[in-house]
Amino acid sequence: MKRTHHCSELRPTHLGQTVTLCGWVHSRRDLGGVIFIDVRDREGRTQTVFDPSDLPAALFEQAAGLRSESVVRVTGRVRERPAGTANPKIPTGTIEVLVRELEVLNLAEPLPFQVDDPEAAARVNEEMRLKYRYLDLRRPEMARNLRLRHKVATATRVFFDENGFVDVETPMLFKSTPEGAREFLVPCRTNPGQFYALPQSPQQFKQILMVAGVERYFQLAKCFRDEDLRADRQPEFTQIDVEMSFIEREDLYRTIEGLLQRLWKVGLNLDIPIPFPRLTFAHALNRFGIDKPDTRFGLELVDLTEEFRGSAFKVFGSAVAAGGVVKALNAKGLACATQGQMDTLTQLAKDGGAKGLAFIKVEDGEWKAPMVKFFSDAEKAALQSKLDIAEGDLILFAAGEWLMACEILGRIRLYAAELLRSEGKLTLPANRFDFLWVVDFPLLSFDKEQNRWYSSHHPFTAPVPEDIPMLKTDPKKVRGQHYDVVVNGVELGGGSIRIHQPDVQKTVFEEVLQIPPETARARFGYLLEAFRYGAPPHGGIALGFDRLIALLCGTPSIRDVIAFPKTAKGTCLMTESPGQAEPKQLRDLYLELKLPKKD
Ligand code: AMO
Ligand code: AMP
Repeated sequence: MKRTHHCSELRPTHLGQTVTLCGWVHSRRDLGGVIFIDVRDREGRTQTVFDPSDLPAALFEQAAGLRSESVVRVTGRVRERPAGTANPKIPTGTIEVLVRELEVLNLAEPLPFQVDDPEAAARVNEEMRLKYRYLDLRRPEMARNLRLRHKVATATRVFFDENGFVDVETPMLFKSTPEGAREFLVPCRTNPGQFYALPQSPQQFKQILMVAGVERYFQLAKCFRDEDLRADRQPEFTQIDVEMSFIEREDLYRTIEGLLQRLWKVGLNLDIPIPFPRLTFAHALNRFGIDKPDTRFGLELVDLTEEFRGSAFKVFGSAVAAGGVVKALNAKGLACATQGQMDTLTQLAKDGGAKGLAFIKVEDGEWKAPMVKFFSDAEKAALQSKLDIAEGDLILFAAGEWLMACEILGRIRLYAAELLRSEGKLTLPANRFDFLWVVDFPLLSFDKEQNRWYSSHHPFTAPVPEDIPMLKTDPKKVRGQHYDVVVNGVELGGGSIRIHQPDVQKTVFEEVLQIPPETARARFGYLLEAFRYGAPPHGGIALGFDRLIALLCGTPSIRDVIAFPKTAKGTCLMTESPGQAEPKQLRDLYLELKLPKKD
């Protein structure tokens, strides 16, 4: 009694045939003594009918005792559904199977939550879904996500194969690297007191592969980072990791645009336009207040620094006098914001480092704000023309240091857009994807607390050649050959052209980043050494594969596209990991625990 068809296959062309289906009891209805069971498998659903008038009593009893999600095999004859009972929502909706034989392969216990109803599933809390992940994954939306992920992974491999890339696996047992994130350490029994680290990314290996002459590398690589987790971050995640030799930035852009165009076609049957627009880091901050702008809507930031130089309104005048800026954005139609929403906006400004948030509500033909009385006519005219102010608008200001003011308004812009969406004043079309490259990042950022420079991307990123002389004299001005690919406000990927000259790499490590020579040698002496034996110019990128799939699936959380994700605390609720080690395991590893006392 083998399965003859999947549950999505049967049509009126099969009428009269005897078929066997295998699957799960999706739903059951008892109507006037007749039992209807929808049998579901990974392909779809078919209605089966148990009619007591022509079935042995024992078989009918068995059907009556079936609980949801039990596993069954049924054999019966395909027939047309009676007039008026067709279900146009499913492809098998015009037929049903009149059951002759039933085999219960596994009787399910009562379920911790309902699987058959998407709305009920949406109400189940995520902890339950993660604890019983195998039930959660039976839901058609989750099953679809997994299969889309597979399809896109396959298309990725085919694309790279067609373009001459070689898929190389790199080690999971590695050592500490300087990429920024905290790492997971693995004690090494055979080398007492020594540790591997799980790779944050295959960065060093892929560069070494270029020295090894591979020229074009890719990998769907597992990466591990012990970071604070959010909707778009997991401690282990997957990258589409790429590295190429003898290229410049333009070659890389073309390759990745081609890949993304292919993947959006395969995943959503959408033709995304290429090439992607480019935005410099400085423009991205000036216009959107963030280096991963969502360009699907306006609400752009406007600079008012010159207009408020010497202003009688002290908050603005003194910010400019101190070398800072005055910036504003017009949240059109948001004068209706409640006190609570204004408090949230103000808190965003304070969290960003400002003392407060100056704003104007335009209501009853009036600019409502105490500070307006300090504004000169010229200042008012400039605001009017630059911000296109009209009745019902809410104007929000940030004054202070450039980066701080931009970032505050960047966060305010996103929150304002959310409010406008909930008010129905801003709509973002589904299936709209605004891709762009963000380029010309500063090579270095300054850590005020530690009083030193650190790499904006990672220390292997090459400076823009004409900026190299400024490395020692004016590091702030040095641009990196780093690029991010951004879509709808999500940082999908990032990469760079690398340093391939050992002397430049040494300068960056030792003189710019102030890593002591012995530390540099211990950590990546092998890389510096490799560069001495013929390193081709090279560069690459890594795309967050989980984020990419989440975008294609239209879900905000990458947990929805990972089969077995971790919670925000880094635990797996299903397997209850992490767990404790046996004392013997610790002894074998020469480890002793010193846990803080619980209070
Ligand atoms: P980067 O650190 O920017 O670059 O990572 C590249 C992309 O990986 C994704 N990503 C994550 N996804 C899920 N969970 C996480 N915790 C997580 N962290 C990062 C993001 C990000 O854009 N070796 C370099 C790449 C290179 O230079 O070639 C690197 O790893 O989408
Ligand atoms: P004050 O004159 O100090 O009462 O401030 C006037 C307004 O400016 C108040 O609404 C403050 O919240 C706001 N404000 C203070 N600092 C800033 C800043 N850096 N940027 C924008 N607005 C600010």
